[in-house]
Amino acid sequence: MSTTTEEAKKVEAKLIPIYIMGKQYEVPETLTIMKAMEYAGFKYIRGCGCRGGVCGACSTVYRKPGDYKIYSGLACQTVVEPDMYLTQLPFYPAMRATYTFEDLQGKPEDVFTLYPELFRCVACNACTKICPMDVEVMDYIAALKRGDIKRAAEISFDCIQCGLCASRCMGELPQYHIAQLARRLNGAYLTPRAEHLKTMVANIQAGRYSDCLNTLKAMNEDTLKKTYQEREMEPAVAGEDWTPKEANCL
Ligand code: SF4
Ligand code: SF4
Ligand code: FES
Repeated sequence: MSTTTEEAKKVEAKLIPIYIMGKQYEVPETLTIMKAMEYAGFKYIRGCGCRGGVCGACSTVYRKPGDYKIYSGLACQTVVEPDMYLTQLPFYPAMRATYTFEDLQGKPEDVFTLYPELFRCVACNACTKICPMDVEVMDYIAALKRGDIKRAAEISFDCIQCGLCASRCMGELPQYHIAQLARRLNGAYLTPRAEHLKTMVANIQAGRYSDCLNTLKAMNEDTLKKTYQEREMEPAVAGEDWTPKEANCL
């Protein structure tokens, strides 16, 4: 029995019935779907990653009694409800275009060529309705149809690649793969370069910090930890002209 299951069984909460893949189980009402499934005896090999709502591995769809709607959520974040009827979709097979990123140019045509199905979108909004991250999926698809890669990258920023949007799409779009391409293009071609980063990289390559780095590399683990813990920290509210007092590694 896993630790999580043991912990769940210690929970002194009212038991409620839920249906997991068609079979009824009694589970504590305080548990998330993920913990309830473990309580019921399921062991996660796939369909579980971070347990914190960020990896997108635990997409779950469910219905409630007497309600025609299909609901969705992340199993690690959604608390069980009485008589919910659920199943998990740990992976949704959506087509992802193959490309060599260096061959792209950051233009709308990159997206149009790799994902021509973009124009099959009929603006039904089913993707937005099912997204557990409240991403305006249809809006980022619409932005890409207009050629606005930057806007699509911004709107889709919270996407966790769970695939639920693709599962509902009547146009058969792999929305989250298209959005990922948009974010990559935006980051590589459309976002202004950070000049201070360029300067820092050049300084590193020129060996400006070699002595400092060699000193750190020569430290034993305890000294390294102590040095790290006692390092000078930038204050929470630092003015533009703040510079560290310790100047050895500047
Ligand atoms: S946009 Fe799609 S893949 Fe991304 S989080 Fe929303 S439903 Fe999941
Ligand atoms: S579900 Fe598909 S067709 Fe409907 S709005 Fe979203 S991308 Fe367009
Ligand atoms: S396990 Fe990662 S989002 Fe649920």
